[in-house]
Amino acid sequence: MNAAIVLAAFGSRNKNAMASLDHISERVRAAHPDVPVLVAYTSKTIRGHMRREGEAVDSVADALTRLHGEGVTHVAIQSLHLIPGTEFHELLALANQHMLAEGGFTRVEVGFPLVAGDPGVEAVADAILAIAREGKGENDAVLFMGHGTRHDGNVYYEALHRAFQERDSSVHLGAMEAEPGIDAVIARFKADGVKKAYLLPFLFGAGWHAAKDMVGDGEASWKTRLEREGIACEAVLKGAGEYDGLVDIWLGHLADAMRRLTRC
Ligand code: CO
Repeated sequence: MNAAIVLAAFGSRNKNAMASLDHISERVRAAHPDVPVLVAYTSKTIRGHMRREGEAVDSVADALTRLHGEGVTHVAIQSLHLIPGTEFHELLALANQHMLAEGGFTRVEVGFPLVAGDPGVEAVADAILAIAREGKGENDAVLFMGHGTRHDGNVYYEALHRAFQERDSSVHLGAMEAEPGIDAVIARFKADGVKKAYLLPFLFGAGWHAAKDMVGDGEASWKTRLEREGIACEAVLKGAGEYDGLVDIWLGHLADAMRRLTRC
């Protein structure tokens, strides 16, 4: 068996987000020292941005084509997405297509994104609660800003928010592009009498969205919106891939995918 790992990240046009990818790549290489590890990007828009900056970036399909040409027979593609949405389902379709192709790979397996199924919601909620409690300090509430999606996978943001609330009613998850949004969060904070909030991204990397939509100076950023309501914000710009408690969950999904590769 000639195996390889492809880490499939959304990608970012912001250098600050690279800390997440660098950290998880390092941990994957340490866990699988004998297997080549490639990084590929699932967002076409972001790949365009990165190429214009002069970076050599692969799509997952590019990475698979290259590995096939090098004689690799078995590939584990690890999704670095947070929830199973559009991008993750595209990876499943791509893996299926490459495994069925005439003369294609013997096996292509896809590792789950961070949150996978109902037990996954509980595991991620436990890990996030540890992060929240560690940083909360004197703040009245902890608020994670997720991306949100029009894909049905958005139910996972709602499920995570409920799981946080069951554990600690001062820990919240909101989404930029779906419900529960910042309006619902503000209404809840006012009802709870929250005066100070600890604000963190629930995003793979703390890149563009964290800088602009979470703590940006613009009228619509979450920080601006909260401050306008008299709620002070203490923000942390660290992506999910920078927290070992969350990286451990991703490594577990990758270990499962690697085990599936070797099953006959
Ligand atoms: Co976005």
